[in-house]
Parts: sequence; C-alpha cells; structure tokens
Amino acid sequence: MRKPLIAGNWKMHANHLETIQMVQKLSYRLDLADYSRVDVVVCPPFTALRSAQTVIEVDHLLIRLGAQNCHWEAEGAYTGEVSPDMLQKLSVSYVIVGHSERRQLFGESDSDVNRKLKAVLAREMTPILCVGETEQEREGGQTKERVGSQVRLSLQGVASEAVGGLVIAYEPIWAIGTGRTASSDDAGDMCAFIRETVGEQWGNAMEDVRILYGGSVNPGNISALMAKRSIDGALVGGASLDPDSFASIVRYWM
Ligand code: PGA
Repeated sequence: MRKPLIAGNWKMHANHLETIQMVQKLSYRLDLADYSRVDVVVCPPFTALRSAQTVIEVDHLLIRLGAQNCHWEAEGAYTGEVSPDMLQKLSVSYVIVGHSERRQLFGESDSDVNRKLKAVLAREMTPILCVGETEQEREGGQTKERVGSQVRLSLQGVASEAVGGLVIAYEPIWAIGTGRTASSDDAGDMCAFIRETVGEQWGNAMEDVRILYGGSVNPGNISALMAKRSIDGALVGGASLDPDSFASIVRYWM
C-alpha cells in the first residue's frame, strides 16, 4: 500500500516570519489521525527552511520539510546555488526536482534534472520529480511521448530500489496556476501511464513509486483526483499558501 502524500509548493512566496505562522496554522488544523493517513510536506523558499525546521522540531510537528530545488554538487564555485548537503543539514526530507518553472524559466534540461535527482538520493532525501507536457504538446498529441521521455531521461542510471522510493509529480504545464485542472480521468490515465513507463524499465519499482498530480489542485477537486487508483497524492501550489485550504486538501476524504 502506497501512503498518500500531499505536498505544498510555496514557490517564491512567504518570508521566514510568514513561514513560521503558516506552518503553525497548518499544524493547528491537522491531527495525528491525518498524519497517519497522509504524508504532509511543505516546501517553503530556501530562506525560510531554517525557520520552518525550528518550528517543526520545537513543536514536534509531523509536517515534513521539502525544498524546491538544489544543485547537484556538494559544494563549489556555483554562485547563488544551494547544495543537497546544505538541505540535508536542515532536516529537509523531500526535494522538488525538475519543476516546469525551473525547466521553462531557468533552462533546466532532463540531464540537469537527472544529476539533481541522483544527488538528492545520495543524501537520503526523497526527490519529487516533476514531469508534464505543454499545451502545444498536448494539442499535438505528444503528451505521452513527452512525459515518457522526461521520466526515462530523468531517471537514467537510477537503481530500481531507489526508483521505488521516489515521488513523481505529473504536472501538465497548462494546468499550473491557471485554474484549469486536468480532468480526474485524464490525470488518472497519465499517472497510470507514468507507472507503466517506470515498470518497463524498473520492474517492481512501479508498485512502490508514488505518483502525484499537480496543477490547480484545490479543496473542491482533490477528492475526485484522489479517487483515482493511480493517483497517490498532490503537489499543490497556490492553494497551499492558505493553511485552511491546504488543510482541507490534506483531509481530502472529509
Ligand atoms: P498550482 O501549482 O497548484 O498553483 O497550479 C502547482 C505546481 O506548480 O506545483
């Protein structure tokens, strides 16, 4: 049984003080039963990770910490970058790699994503690998080709046991921040396709890898998405910034 995972990607929102409040508010709205059903992750900006870590530790919260990106080297002359080792020291458990905003706005290639993913795994953190097609690719009937190739290239050279432990988020680019969610049928089909793609190359890992949907997830559409057998959770942007709405996404069965 794969445990559902709901992760909030805060993007470039929330300074460290706001982060403390948001994490605390979220924690007031969740109880032990929620955490036993769902893994709950927040991914604040780098500058707020230390503050989030402190609240989580001091208050013994079961919220897990994620980062939005990292470099693949441990250290070096890479102005402006943050290494996986630095994140590990902050008790970061998850690292988003290959988000479409990183790919599109900052030119990250599949091979960059592959290096980042391996670096994250090597520090015993869990990558959340993002894949997804553009609107043009969808209209041109290239969705599966594109997403399949992102999965294969991003995971190239990764052992099957490691693939089983990671998280893949299917995020169609046209659905991100637009209010246009993929239908739960489409999202479910694509998550099933990603699982098959994993199975073709990494065998049994397909049973364990958790596959999330992302793109305009909100409290109103989460339960239909989670009803799909192939969808193990959600990567939530905009709606994760409001602790009330994020908490109701986490409690999608209510
Ligand atoms: P959104 O973002 O929920 O605001 O569409 C999702 C994401 O980019 O991960």
